Amino acid sequence: MVSRVIPVDTFDLTIFGGTGDLARRKILPGLYRRYRAGQMPEGSRIVGAARSDMDTDTYRAEVREALREFIQPAKLDRDDVEGFLGCLHYVAIDATGEKGWQELRELMRPDRVRAFYFSVAPALFGAIAERLHHHRIADADSRIVVEKPFGRDLASAQELNRTLAEHFDETQIYRIDHYLGKETVQNLMALRFGNVLFEPLWNSQYVDHIQITVSETVGVGGRGGYYDKSGAMRDMVQNHLMQLLCLIAMEPPSQFEPDAVRDEKLKVIRALDPVRPDDIVRGQYEAGGNVPSYQDDVEDPDTRTESFIAMKIHVSNWRWAGTPFYIRTGKRLRARQSEIAVVFKDAPHSIFGAEAGRHRNILTIRLQPNEGMTLVTTIKEPGLGGMRLIDVPLDMTFADALGAENEVTDAYERLVMDVIRGNQTLFMRGDEVEAAWGWTDPIIQSWSVRDDRPFRYEPGSSGPEESSMLLHRETRRWREIRE
Ligand code: BG6
Repeated sequence: MVSRVIPVDTFDLTIFGGTGDLARRKILPGLYRRYRAGQMPEGSRIVGAARSDMDTDTYRAEVREALREFIQPAKLDRDDVEGFLGCLHYVAIDATGEKGWQELRELMRPDRVRAFYFSVAPALFGAIAERLHHHRIADADSRIVVEKPFGRDLASAQELNRTLAEHFDETQIYRIDHYLGKETVQNLMALRFGNVLFEPLWNSQYVDHIQITVSETVGVGGRGGYYDKSGAMRDMVQNHLMQLLCLIAMEPPSQFEPDAVRDEKLKVIRALDPVRPDDIVRGQYEAGGNVPSYQDDVEDPDTRTESFIAMKIHVSNWRWAGTPFYIRTGKRLRARQSEIAVVFKDAPHSIFGAEAGRHRNILTIRLQPNEGMTLVTTIKEPGLGGMRLIDVPLDMTFADALGAENEVTDAYERLVMDVIRGNQTLFMRGDEVEAAWGWTDPIIQSWSVRDDRPFRYEPGSSGPEESSMLLHRETRRWREIRE
């Protein structure tokens, strides 16, 4: 089974920050893969725009290097690489001045989808939006793509929304949360709304609790300056984990259409209760082995920013009242593992007696690595001598089920193609982002009011011990983070 390539219209995509890290690591390699898949129509162009003075040939040479670094050698076909580089142009531009804008304008052609990717600091969004408008480079059909962080609190997110709205309509603004572009995250919706099996059980009557874990092995070295001002709450929870929670908790939209889906997600965010201080555990990794501590990574011995957070969250609506959502995410943990586990309640009555023990169905959706699903089911232990029950997983790894050639598409390449197609379903709407900050802000503010300090945890562990207590005190357990 090989994925179908759905054609898109010919486009001119301008990447502001075209020499930056995200462009090199994700956007340009993703576009190369689409080119190879035959999804970049003849005549489409990618314009790298950045501050440095260089010509198009030098830019192409830089991008060639980036492809060597970030594309597997087996996929670096010489003709494909040269063909792709031939679609690239470069404009040296001053985001806050006048240099380069006229040149960019001259590069734009009629009858092409025009998209502008703002892969730059949010402080420049306003200046770029203004100039695109002023120089008549963007028109009413153009799209702009903005990256996180979209604000650092409600006030700054509102300000950014206002700034963009001065020149662009909401239907033209694509706010990226790359988690929404992950294949398995979309599979969550297919699982819930494409099967009859799960939805009748998807509520507090049958679900005991839900766990969302996004665990990483990397530290914050190299981006300490950014990270220490954000912490796990702003960097991961307010966006990625919140989006996962919304997709699990939302009501079925009537159609898989941008506003229908986003309306339902927004209702979930609005139904989130404020989180009590003793339902939150924050942590910071210590030094260990040959890795430095969080404080050393961010070069601040007094920092109180969290590199780990675990929380118990309540969604106050008819479907979920009484079923807690436990979420956790952190750096320098035991393994890179992102998964959602739906832990169902015990059978209402055990006909097998106390010796049969306690058994529960657990549906696990693995986002990465080994994308797939497991449903833990209870069966009889084989053999004679009575009825003993054991739990066995019904395991489906997507790569096995769908064939290795059906490789998982990277989130960025899917999202960029959705921009060209004009499909906003997998992008965050302005009110959604604001609602997420509205829930996050008081939690963050309470830490400074209470002078809260994160607990320490060993690198390579599952986070601070206190995070286990969050569940133990309710006779529940986190699922293991396994190497
Ligand atoms: C980014 C965060 O948005 O997501 C990073 O800023 C984090 O801190 C990354 O490492 C995780 O993304 P992924 O796709 O590797 O799970």
